[in-house]
Amino acid sequence: MSRFSGVEFAPASSKRDEDDIDSSDDDLDDSLYTGLRTASVSPEFKRASVKMQREMLPIFAHRESLLYLIESSQVVVLIGHTGSGKSTQMTQYLYEAGWTDHDKLIACTQPRKLAASSVAARVATEIGCRLGETVGYSIRFEDVTSPETRIKYMTDGMLLREILIDPLLSRYSVIMIDEAHERSTYTDILICVLKKIIKRRRDLRVIISSATLQADEFVNFFGSGTKIISIEGRMHPVDLLYLTEPTENYVEKTIETIFSIHANEPAGDILAFLTGREEITQVIQAIYDRQDTLPASAPRLLILPLYAGLSQEHQQRIFDPTPDGTRKIIISTNIAEASVTIDGIVYVIDCGFVKLRAYDPELKMDSLVVTPASKASATQRAGRAGRTRNGKCFRLYTEAAYDQLAETTPPELQRTNLAGPLLQLKALGIDNLARLDMLSPPPVELVVDALELLFNLGALDDYAKLTKPLGERLAELPLDPMLGKILLQAQNFGCVNQMLTIAAMMSVDNIFYYPENNRRAAQEQHAKFIVAEGDLLSYFNVYQAFTLRGKQSSKWAHERFLNYKALVQAVSIRAQLARYLTKLGVSIPSSAAAVSPETVVKCIVSGYFPNAAKMQPDGSLRLLSGDNGSSSSSTDGKSTVWIHPTSVMFSRSAEWVVFSQIVKMGKKTYINGVTKIDRDWLLEAAPRFYQVTKQR
Ligand code: CDP
Ligand code: MG
Repeated sequence: MSRFSGVEFAPASSKRDEDDIDSSDDDLDDSLYTGLRTASVSPEFKRASVKMQREMLPIFAHRESLLYLIESSQVVVLIGHTGSGKSTQMTQYLYEAGWTDHDKLIACTQPRKLAASSVAARVATEIGCRLGETVGYSIRFEDVTSPETRIKYMTDGMLLREILIDPLLSRYSVIMIDEAHERSTYTDILICVLKKIIKRRRDLRVIISSATLQADEFVNFFGSGTKIISIEGRMHPVDLLYLTEPTENYVEKTIETIFSIHANEPAGDILAFLTGREEITQVIQAIYDRQDTLPASAPRLLILPLYAGLSQEHQQRIFDPTPDGTRKIIISTNIAEASVTIDGIVYVIDCGFVKLRAYDPELKMDSLVVTPASKASATQRAGRAGRTRNGKCFRLYTEAAYDQLAETTPPELQRTNLAGPLLQLKALGIDNLARLDMLSPPPVELVVDALELLFNLGALDDYAKLTKPLGERLAELPLDPMLGKILLQAQNFGCVNQMLTIAAMMSVDNIFYYPENNRRAAQEQHAKFIVAEGDLLSYFNVYQAFTLRGKQSSKWAHERFLNYKALVQAVSIRAQLARYLTKLGVSIPSSAAAVSPETVVKCIVSGYFPNAAKMQPDGSLRLLSGDNGSSSSSTDGKSTVWIHPTSVMFSRSAEWVVFSQIVKMGKKTYINGVTKIDRDWLLEAAPRFYQVTKQR
């Protein structure tokens, strides 16, 4: 191994890691491969090149046997390393073999939005159509399909919504559940529902595709007749390097490691895994700042971020071949772990952590928590380095720490709030979750808490049946149940237009941005929109100004340090939500009648009342949830939270607040999406929920 300044890595001990990165005998010529990827001399040549690229993928050798298996058995489990061609090729083979004849469609589900759109874009290019023609995708608030669409990539959540409308999925001939190893909540629910559907639709085919070898559970679940096929991935050996001493700060270590790879290691692109967008931005900024210290002779750096919510054009740059004399550095969340394959990566830096949504029984809600990744994750991440040639993986933790990691991440269904999924299952007529045949059933407490929340929101009655119309309408809205409730209640408060705007703005992220070198100016601009009521009403002001005074111009938004793309998206989402409301029979006044901020806040409280907190003299807040609204009992500090620095309520005071989001960072818990309220409004909105605190 090479030892380099400041960063101490030790090679992995000689026991061949359980990492299943095998060096299969490999006849692939690297230079030929890269040559092919960059060749684009004439249109004809390009087409030939795509065909050859497709035929060089490991899955191609199995094309005929795959098609045969799918013809002959209803469920096929497909296993192959990331990059072997499962997501991009399988749908095309089915299409070529006639599975879309008679106007049928092929669905391929992804747990992540970004994977759905980027894989669809790739397949459209390979087929030679525009996105939304033969190949399209559908994610929440974005439907890029047309009547011509035959291959449809979609998030797993979107397919479940289609089942609400078309319970037997009659338009589809094949459903491919991709990235099944990730075990997202909706993937697990789909697998469970599909098991029922295939009994009634003998012609329907199901493909469960997984990037890890633990696929027995899928085979056992579907039972005899299920076929399993494993496609050898082309994997080169990856050197695993561990820190000799644990690091206090993996973000700083990532930056150091990038620079020492760049200074000491031969050509090859770098992929670094971090946990979220803020960390990614921080690292990218630091690289820009320190770039000048590099010798003039060093290759140029091309630094790209990768995280959910990235625009289509930014996504595409990740996949573009690296120009000569340049080293590409991709700083990513765990989206690059298996969902998105990037070629040319030789060095992987693994921070060892992942940001997960996890249910906190104490708080009775999900929070985003940075937790140690699992061994399975670490293996996947390391594997990204061995796609095109021998690679190196720098693990920013010690080998002893690795040994302590859990084998796998528990399925999402067992660790997150179930209110949304439960609502949809109810709408599907599946009432008793306990009797449902699932891959791994959720813990009872999670189910009970979800039922309780839905009951308190008024979506379920005393018999745990969906209420009419509220519960049924809530299930149809593509929003979190609390936010959905607010939108549906808006009619009673006479603020439908205001709430549509707020709900749309809550469905996009990072409306305000702060350039590192110009924070002051940004804060001054933002101050013009900020109101004492808090985040949600401030978002409303931004939207109003953007659409009325700003005439939706990008120049206007940039001058005010507002995220133009997010605002444009909010305009589109608002229109879609308005169509949902109309469909549900809620009338939308043609002009927004003036309502008092107080009325809008009361409407917000009607949905977010379970997330209430009271400010303490030191500026921290004490949560009211957890014990039917009593805040007095807890002395262990577990229900103490702080206002997130990006909230407009940061460093402002408010005695009582409700909030939409909770994030754990280190030892502190932060709330965001904060609205200042009056205590009495809590009692008005939810007398049963808050009766305990009344006599306070
Ligand atoms: O699904 P799996 O991980 O098995 O592989 P895939 O996503 O089908 O990727 C097969 C090939 O397509 C890889 O060489 C990717 O780099 C390439 N690809 C691409 O160039 N652009 C995309 N947006 C997606 C995949
Ligand atoms: Mg894939």
